[in-house]
Amino acid sequence: MWSYVWLPLVALSLFKDSIIMAKAATILLPSQTGFDISRSPVCSAPDPNLNYRPVIGILSHPGDGASGRLSNATDASSIAASYVKLAESGGARVIPLIFNEPEEILFQKLELVNGVILTGGWAKEGLYFEIVKKIFNKVLERNDAGEHFPIYAICLGFELLTMIISQNRDIFEKMDARNSASSLQFVENVNIQGTIFQRFPPELLKKLGTDCLVMQNHRFGISPQSFEGNIALSNFFKIVTTCVDDNGKVYVSTVQSTKYPVTGFQWHPEKNAFEWGSSKIPHSEDAIQVTQHAANHLVSEARKSLNRPESKKVLSNLIYNYKPTYCGYAGIGYDEVYIFTQQRSLL
Ligand SMILES: *[C@@H]1O[C@H](CO)[C@@H](O)[C@H](O)[C@H]1NC(C)=O
Repeated sequence: MWSYVWLPLVALSLFKDSIIMAKAATILLPSQTGFDISRSPVCSAPDPNLNYRPVIGILSHPGDGASGRLSNATDASSIAASYVKLAESGGARVIPLIFNEPEEILFQKLELVNGVILTGGWAKEGLYFEIVKKIFNKVLERNDAGEHFPIYAICLGFELLTMIISQNRDIFEKMDARNSASSLQFVENVNIQGTIFQRFPPELLKKLGTDCLVMQNHRFGISPQSFEGNIALSNFFKIVTTCVDDNGKVYVSTVQSTKYPVTGFQWHPEKNAFEWGSSKIPHSEDAIQVTQHAANHLVSEARKSLNRPESKKVLSNLIYNYKPTYCGYAGIGYDEVYIFTQQRSLL
């Protein structure tokens, strides 16, 4: 009979000891650590050389982004929400730069931002081309004047900058890389410092070369030979990666300016995490990390822009003043787009 009493008692006392030991090892009262509870925690001072409230401008592209399923208005332009989410996931807010709004308003809005995304699309002529050229020149001017001001030029954006810098609109050739995922081949001995890859974990960098972690969707490309053969282009950009199209042709896939924070992508860093319209878009954890690192790099560059415009003006132009439209139900194209008409421009 006594053993029934004794056993639980021993168990209880062992249990009590272990609680006291655990407490002593891990949880201490503030008074036991010498921490002065009346003082607020010490947060490191913000770096005065960084702008912690960066805003990214994204240039809208002609059309509704949904092949007329949402709007056939001739003055409609759009931004796929995936580009907005890319900037937001890096810790920035977005101001849409509506390509066909009055130019002085567009360029006032450019004064409100700390970096620009030139998106994918199809428009290579007319007003859109001219506006891209003017924005690009303005951005170079701002960098030359001492402001650090990045551009991400993605797919069409990369093609347009390449045409503008080379002063050759026919420098691209037909390539077959529609709707497919690919790896990225790093140029031999390329220095990735100052490129979007600089803070990729080594494991992920290795996988970029072997796994299909980036999304391609283009019918044109530029060979490394054509790229290096144009003096203006090879002076402006260094080639960081290449890819191979469906017919084995090699094309330039990532470039970084050596003088300016200007990055060109023939691939789509924004799609992995935010677009679902094609079954070819990679959504693995590694692929999502590629999107996240691309976002981090863009915004870390934008934080170096000390342009701090009047906050009211920023607020009244943010993308939050617009509503995206879901168009992914069709199972093709973008999942969400922001559609703009000139009449709705703010400021
Ligand atoms: C745009 O035009 C196409 C072709 O005429 C038509 O099928 C479509 O419904 C139109 N879209 C809208 C939103 O009205």
